[in-house]
Amino acid sequence: MPHGAPASSNQLQVSAAPIQIPPLSQPSPVQLSLVIPTYNEASSISSLIRQVCTHLDKILPGAYELIVVDDNSPDYTAKVAQELQEEFPQLQVICRHQERGLATAVLRGWQVARGEVLGVMDGDWQHPPEILLKLWPLIQEGADLVVGSRYVESGGVSHWNLGRRLVSRGAQAIGLVLLPGIFRRVSDPLSGLFLVRRQAIAGIPLSPKGYKLLIEVLARGRVKTIAEVGYVFQERQNGESKIQLQTCLQYLHHLIHLRFSLGQVGSFLRFSTVGLSGTFVDMTLLYLLHDPSNLGWDLAISKFIASEVAILNNFLWNDLWTFRHVTQLQPGLWNRLKRLVKFNVICLIGLLLNSSLLILLSEHLGIHYLLANLMAIGIVVFWNFYLNAKLSWRAPS
Ligand code: GDD
Ligand code: MN
Repeated sequence: MPHGAPASSNQLQVSAAPIQIPPLSQPSPVQLSLVIPTYNEASSISSLIRQVCTHLDKILPGAYELIVVDDNSPDYTAKVAQELQEEFPQLQVICRHQERGLATAVLRGWQVARGEVLGVMDGDWQHPPEILLKLWPLIQEGADLVVGSRYVESGGVSHWNLGRRLVSRGAQAIGLVLLPGIFRRVSDPLSGLFLVRRQAIAGIPLSPKGYKLLIEVLARGRVKTIAEVGYVFQERQNGESKIQLQTCLQYLHHLIHLRFSLGQVGSFLRFSTVGLSGTFVDMTLLYLLHDPSNLGWDLAISKFIASEVAILNNFLWNDLWTFRHVTQLQPGLWNRLKRLVKFNVICLIGLLLNSSLLILLSEHLGIHYLLANLMAIGIVVFWNFYLNAKLSWRAPS
């Protein structure tokens, strides 16, 4: 006989309004819904739930719920948790059979949550429950997100050896390189202890991989104000960590997935593709105008005409395709003309750079002018992308 309610299997997205379970028709009194994800935590879960309730009863009596989301643990964690429901009616227990993984477990819990504020805490006592007494007041003061952090004052890790500290910091460093805009927002983006306002993530499809839900919330959520509270990551007393090699690979997958889906890399790839078509236009025209077997015009004049035609070609593709997510928000001919002028000016400056490089490479270094042109274009692509993404197709805030 299975223990716990089943989880939903629809899209991983939290709804704007808390669900009302019939016959409960009056507004939910629940302010905070705290999810505790578990896998083989039968030895810790009861004492942890007791302690969490003791603390929350002090600050939110009758106004919170706990949601244990277990992945059908072979040690019957779900059953152990369910047995506490009589004593703690504010406890829900969900048991998943199809899906697995820490981050999705938390989201499944939040999908059945009734609170305006959604939270997560590990089920193994490594997050000290009394920290909730410090997290909650910051939400009350208006923060959209409150993160328990190991890397601010009064935070830390217990007895981690150098190797473990290095792995943790290394993971954070990779994140800083790949997603600086996200990882710089908090001191401990890999934390698994935080509270977030429902409104900050409602209606947004989330697709975390593996463990780290917080980076997904920071990346996609409508999170404006963030507060942090230091806490010491405790040593595990019972059971063992579920981190495996697969968890590390999922982490990398998650970072790369976010990097691509957040626009810049995808836009850059499209921009480069468009640039390639422009290069083809540019090279063909340059050959037709400059080559002695054709018109044999002056190199500088030929290059200018070839480039201006290529710029127009590129503008149209970029406006209709590369940056369509921005142009959709700024419709109209007048806006398009403004973008064209900016794009043209940036590209003309790029062209000066391009021509200087072309002359340097072909006339001073003796590289064939077509190859030199190709190399110069390659360098100028980066210049053009950076400035155009910032100035011509900047998304309205
Ligand atoms: N439902 C479910 N499914 N729960 C899981 C799964 C899973 O696949 N994997 C892990 N959990 C539960 C564990 O039972 C535990 O309650 C919690 O998620 C954390 O998992 P651990 O395996 O103990 O993680 P850790 O101690 O190595 O790392 C933790 O600390 C980091 C530092 O703050 C995690 O909580 C990280 O999220 C956290 O950032
Ligand atoms: Mn743990």
